[in-house]
Amino acid sequence: MITPVLLAGGSGTRLWPLSRRSYPKQFAELTGPVTLFQATAERLSGAGFAPPLVLTQSDFRFIATEQLAAVGIDPGAVMLEPEGRNTAPAILAAALWLRREAGEEALMLVAPSDHVIADAQAFQEAIAGAELAARRGRLVTFGITPDRAETGYGYLEPSQESGVGGPVPLVRFIEKPDLVRARALYESGDYLWNSGLFLFSAGAILEAARTHAPSLLARVEAAFAAARADLGFLRLDPDTWGDAPDISIDYAIMERAGCVSVMPVQAGWSDLGDWEAVRRAAPAARSDGVALSGAATAIDCRDSLLRSEDPRLQMVGIGLEDVIAVAMPDAVLVAHRSRAQDVKAAVNALKARD
Ligand code: GDD
Ligand code: MG
Repeated sequence: MITPVLLAGGSGTRLWPLSRRSYPKQFAELTGPVTLFQATAERLSGAGFAPPLVLTQSDFRFIATEQLAAVGIDPGAVMLEPEGRNTAPAILAAALWLRREAGEEALMLVAPSDHVIADAQAFQEAIAGAELAARRGRLVTFGITPDRAETGYGYLEPSQESGVGGPVPLVRFIEKPDLVRARALYESGDYLWNSGLFLFSAGAILEAARTHAPSLLARVEAAFAAARADLGFLRLDPDTWGDAPDISIDYAIMERAGCVSVMPVQAGWSDLGDWEAVRRAAPAARSDGVALSGAATAIDCRDSLLRSEDPRLQMVGIGLEDVIAVAMPDAVLVAHRSRAQDVKAAVNALKARD
């Protein structure tokens, strides 16, 4: 049995104005009839999987449980972080819970809830292929063949040995390189992207944390020990949780640990981190590169995304190239496609003005 650990605490600011502080992207219907969070939970249900453990913030607890109920999934537990401290504290809290419930050797599949995976079967096969290595104490990452020099991802250098259908040892993990380095890594052909999905036993990740991030682990242990049950939710202790450093699992552990392996996976993976990624992942592969959603029409447009989230707001683009336009009832974004990453800074500036 593998326990899915669904990370659903991010705020997704680069997908403003659809993604809001009160309703982040993982809970929005971004690409289809179910939300990214629901699609993630569905992908990791069924044979071989235990009920999922969900990690999110207090504000999102009912959204998360309602969305799971709507797709017929009953979570094993919903753990609430008093505040977002990034993925390392959240994943370690999950490992402490799983060790308590099912022992050191219980396997957890950490799944971000902001991804699309087009080929669910290939994904399942990759998980099955990685299981034995994880049982032997390896921290398994899932690697994607890159198609550009992306600075928003981690890069994995797998060893050249053959994995015979399973993972191979990792030589190096480089989290979010700058553009010059990302280009060199991409052009070398030796690297895979880190998908952000991980498979390991509760004991193995806690052991790695004890070696590479002992003070972080001590804080998380204290917050977990003082956690309290509240109407079906498990609330981590706010006093100690606030002391945990804000750090991702990639920087805290994966870049440093020696027992990491890479499982290559070709499953149509895409991180919907910003609007340009959403445009690229749009299911209707139009030859003009235009992605339309809601009440939007494009005439002679190219490589653009036009999206109206309100049926009363008709959006029409004429002769546009490389434009991202997203209309909500109370906010409109218009941006050049190459500046999709800058939406985050714009939202932070708006917040500062509030
Ligand atoms: N519960 C919880 N608490 N979840 C969180 C928190 C938190 O404090 N912070 C982030 N998350 C969730 C996000 O909602 C997302 O689903 C996932 O954890 C990853 O966080 P991101 O903030 O989206 O990370 P990233 O995209 O910048 O980088 C990671 O993913 C890339 C691939 O998408 C890294 O693992 C990279 O190495 C990787 O390439
Ligand atoms: Mg992400």
